[in-house]
Amino acid sequence: MKEEVSILIEEEQVEKRVKELAEEINRDYAGKTLHLICILKGSVFFTCELAKYIKVPVTMDFIGVSSYGDGLKSSGYISIDRDLTMGIKGRDVIVVEDILDSGRTLSYLAHMLKKREPASLRVCTLLDKPAHRQTEVDIAYTGFEIEDYFVVGYGLDYAQRYRNLPYIGVLNIKED
Ligand code: IMP
Ligand code: MG
Repeated sequence: MKEEVSILIEEEQVEKRVKELAEEINRDYAGKTLHLICILKGSVFFTCELAKYIKVPVTMDFIGVSSYGDGLKSSGYISIDRDLTMGIKGRDVIVVEDILDSGRTLSYLAHMLKKREPASLRVCTLLDKPAHRQTEVDIAYTGFEIEDYFVVGYGLDYAQRYRNLPYIGVLNIKED
């Protein structure tokens, strides 16, 4: 088996779009303190880059959720591996996700977090892959909508690898 990655979204394009999203968020949250929730591990790069350009006061927390195992397809089973360390009651929360695929992870998470009574809860995803959507999810901020590719880089992995690529690439697995 040979793995190949071809560039889908260049590093500069990603950076430009992240800055645009931050500007939108700055306008929407003017006068407020924003609580960013980063979904580990895929959203780490995106959350940190986004946070750098947010001008309103920001607090951050991290949550570990798994749904994929090591494969190319979601297992459909979602588990919280690591919960938040801060309460969110009364906070203006944005959940930051790397990619929205079936929608199960985010709808599960949004449902769970709403029970903790945040003042507001929005979702920001870098990538939206609507081809296999199974659950409607209300997305306030989207970076890019993409075709039905398995993508890696900028935090996204295949079997825990490729997260460090500065661009977003399509993974092709070829038989030898
Ligand atoms: P969903 O629950 O099906 O929406 O899946 C969302 C999660 O699956 C994301 O947080 C990613 O971790 C993972 N995922 C979905 N599509 C891809 C992909 O193309 N590359 C890498 N991970 C993906
Ligand atoms: Mg993820």
